[in-house]
Order: sequence, then C-alpha cells, then structure tokens
Amino acid sequence: MQILQTAAALQAQTETWRREGQRIGLVPTMGALHEGHLQLVRAAAQECDVVVVSIFVNPTQFNNPEDYRLYPRLPEADAELLGPAGCTALFLPSVEEMYPRPTVLHFDFGSLERVMEGAHRPGHFNGVATVVSKLFHLCRPHRAYFGQKDFQQVAIVRQLVQDLSFDLELVAFPTIREADGLAMSSRNRRLTPEARLVAPALYRALQQAEQLVHQHNTPDAIRIAVAELLGQEPSITLEYFEVADAETLQPVSEWKPNQTIALCLAAQLGGVRLIDNVVVKTV
Ligand code: PAJ
Repeated sequence: MQILQTAAALQAQTETWRREGQRIGLVPTMGALHEGHLQLVRAAAQECDVVVVSIFVNPTQFNNPEDYRLYPRLPEADAELLGPAGCTALFLPSVEEMYPRPTVLHFDFGSLERVMEGAHRPGHFNGVATVVSKLFHLCRPHRAYFGQKDFQQVAIVRQLVQDLSFDLELVAFPTIREADGLAMSSRNRRLTPEARLVAPALYRALQQAEQLVHQHNTPDAIRIAVAELLGQEPSITLEYFEVADAETLQPVSEWKPNQTIALCLAAQLGGVRLIDNVVVKTV
C-alpha cells in the first residue's frame, strides 16, 4: 500500500490508473478506523481494481471546535489496518494541503439540509460537500463508498453528484454495529466505560420505534415514545429524533402506503455526540 500526502501525488497516481483502464474505488474517511470503515474498503476492493482511502479530519465540517480538537487521530494504526483490507493507496493530506487558502464557496442543499444534522450542525454539510468535491476531483473515482450510518450525508452527496455531474457511482453501504447494537463510530472511542454501557439504548430505541411503525402508531406517537424511552436514561441527552421520508428527509406527519421511512436520532452521552438510524418501510 502506498501513502500519498499531496494532492498532486494523488492526481498523478489516479490519472495513471485511469489511463491503464483500472477501475478506481474511493472511500473517504476521517480515520480512527473501525470495522464499519473496513467493510467499506473490502467492498471497494471486491468491486474495483484499485482502492484509494482518504483519511482527513476535515476542519470545515466541524461546527464545534472542541469536537474537532478531540476527534481521535491514529494514522499509524489506521495504516496498518488498511493494507490487509485491500486498500491500494492511502491519501493522508495535511490541512494546508487540502486548504492552502480559506474556501469561500458555499453549498446550499435546500430542504435536504434544513433538517436533522444540517439543522443542528450549522455549516456541517457545507464542509462535507467541499471536501468530498475536492476528493472526487483529485481522485476521479469510478465508485465512491459511503455508509448509511450517516444517512443524511448520503442524501447530500447524492445531490452533489447529481448537481455537479460527477461521473461516478455512489455506493451506500449498510450500518455496521457492535454485538450489542451500538453503531460503530470513531467517536465511540471517546465514551467512558459507563457511557459505553448505556450507548446501546440508542439503537434499542430505534428498534422500538421500528416496531411502533409496524404496529401503525402515528409518527407523532412514535416521536413521543422515543423521547420518553430515552428520557429514562439520565446520561443521554436526545438532540433530535425524527421520523423522516427516506428520500426527501422531510418529517412525516402521516403514513403513506409503501413509503420508505428513516428513523434518525442524535444524542449526547457524556459530551460525546452520536447519531444512528434505521430504515423501515410502511405497508
Ligand atoms: P467518517 O465518520 O470517518 O466516516 C467515513 C465513512 O464511513 C462514511 O461514509 C461513514 O458513513 C462510514 N461509516 C462510519 N461508521 C460506519 C458504520 N458503523 N457502518 C458503516 N459505515 C460507516 O463521514 C465522514 O467520515 C466524513 O464526513 C467524510 C465523508 C469523510 C467527509 O469528511
């Protein structure tokens, strides 16, 4: 596995691969890799000839400076995991390399970003769209891999690909969980042992919500039930729970038949912010 640290080196390498007719897979990450990331890399290695993984803790997508400062950074350990997973090249740029000058371009994803993460983390998706666009331009992948764990991020990147005519296939990969149901996340490393024990309550609440959808409870009744359920855990502060249309991401007030619904939440647990979701179909 080669390690590339400059935009020029990544461009040159991927340009060579393109000329050789190799199919390029890209897995953008912020590192502190876990099994969820590695499964994306393995999927990319199965479906593409070469795989680029980027590790870049992107400052422009953090609305909270403390979260940026404390974000786990483990490039050496990450690099050791990536080769065996099938990564061909690790792109590991510095902040100066990605942002030699401050960016001024602004994205507006309309109603897609006025809800959930977009509403609670001002500027977040602008930073995501900026860095993902840069990575797409530098790497020009045939396929780019993203996790459904960040459900709204996938919707935003899909819109970005469509609006800017990126010539690539977006692959949305299912959420990988710990044995007790907690969605894998780099931020899980920051949970205290006590918080780690409580954290699976988030997924249990989503499973409960899924049951309530199947039992034809109204969206509002489900919102109340989840808030009550998580309210019983004093160490969890629910930021939002939303019953959203999986396509438009807009809150749902009544069911339509055969509608795909995303049940999404964000919560704080001892100063660590976690998100999770499940997707469910109405009958
Ligand atoms: P990061 O949180 O490191 O996640 C990198 C990719 O791994 C994302 O597509 C994310 O959805 C996916 N992922 C994370 N946890 C997962 C899990 N438990 N199961 C499956 N996939 C999972 O998301 C980002 O970084 C950044 O916003 C990025 C896209 C790299 C732009 O900076």
